[in-house]
Amino acid sequence: MQAAPLLRTKTTFNDRVLNFYPGPGALPFPVLERIHAELFNFNGTGMSVMELSHRSPQIQAIIDDGAERIKRLMNLGDEFDVIFLQGGGSLQFLMVPMNFSGSGDRIDYIDTGYWTQKAIKAAKSLDRDLGIVASSGDRNHTYAPAIEEIQLREGTKYLHICSNNTVVGTQYHHFPRFPAPLIVDTSSDFMSKVIDTTNLDCIYAHAQKNVGLSGVTVVLIRKEMLGRIPDNLPELLDYRTHIERKSNYHTPPCFSIYVTWQILKWIEEDIGGLKNLGEINQKKADTLYRCIDANPLYCCGVEVESRSQMNAVFNLPTEELEQLFIQEARDAKIIGVAGHRTRGGCRVSLYNGVTLEAVETLVEFMEKFAREHS
Ligand SMILES: Cc1ncc(COP(=O)(O)O)c(C=O)c1O
Repeated sequence: MQAAPLLRTKTTFNDRVLNFYPGPGALPFPVLERIHAELFNFNGTGMSVMELSHRSPQIQAIIDDGAERIKRLMNLGDEFDVIFLQGGGSLQFLMVPMNFSGSGDRIDYIDTGYWTQKAIKAAKSLDRDLGIVASSGDRNHTYAPAIEEIQLREGTKYLHICSNNTVVGTQYHHFPRFPAPLIVDTSSDFMSKVIDTTNLDCIYAHAQKNVGLSGVTVVLIRKEMLGRIPDNLPELLDYRTHIERKSNYHTPPCFSIYVTWQILKWIEEDIGGLKNLGEINQKKADTLYRCIDANPLYCCGVEVESRSQMNAVFNLPTEELEQLFIQEARDAKIIGVAGHRTRGGCRVSLYNGVTLEAVETLVEFMEKFAREHS
């Protein structure tokens, strides 16, 4: 029997839907094209990158160059180590307390809703003295507590925050100095703009929102933090293992790291760095929030100064209207605008792979929908 012919239809940018999924989400189209072009023969190896041994020089070169690009893009020097791990953002909810505190130690958290609560729950499963030093729970997580006013507990080992809460649509834009190390879950705003890292001691982010696919998590650790790691950790869960083995202690998620590397190259070489990317992302967010604020049909309950540049959450007057909005958006090839299942309503995610043109088309749709249903 003859094998079915391979599907070789060329997909162009115009054939695609507008993807506003909260992650995994849209990837930059030029990156998809490059992956496509290299799929059967990566860099003259005669193999796909998926078929290469993780011990091959090509894979190690991707890992090393990826780590260097992250440092260059974020303007970091050798004071930080950069590693690629598995286990998603969720494993970091455990690795952070395991590596940076010991039995009975105080650790402090800011609760800004869903994802921080997951981090808190994970840390609570260890025998730590966990304190919630600020929470936005009093107003249904519609704001991020003023970070400058936060007092840590005496002797705490670190403060953990989430820079961008994907579910409730809030974001911190500045990170002040605290008397203890500051650890930040940046899973939903990593590499989306320039950030001042002076006061940050550990930054982690899964890749599937702004820098690639699920399967890989990037962790940046200030070298001084390594001295705090207890010696009795299982090797696999000890950050030092992965630093020493250059993120190749056990089989890494090679393809996911490769996609991250492609995106880093795109940010650096096509976009011209995080400053330019941040400006594009700011324009996208401004365009969308301007539409939400101008149309009484849409209501974003998040306080203006806490609004996320990455995830805009909003409601329509009734659940029926929200469902109709999501349905009509889908009919217009606008995908992924339903809110998180715990919150309902609508949410539009504006990660790096989403273009300004896509946001402008969405806004045209939203304005038309508002005219028809107000
Ligand atoms: C801010 C944030 N942190 C952590 C996670 C959990 O990440 P993962 O699903 O990779 O474990 C998510 C998931 O979306 C997230 O948005």
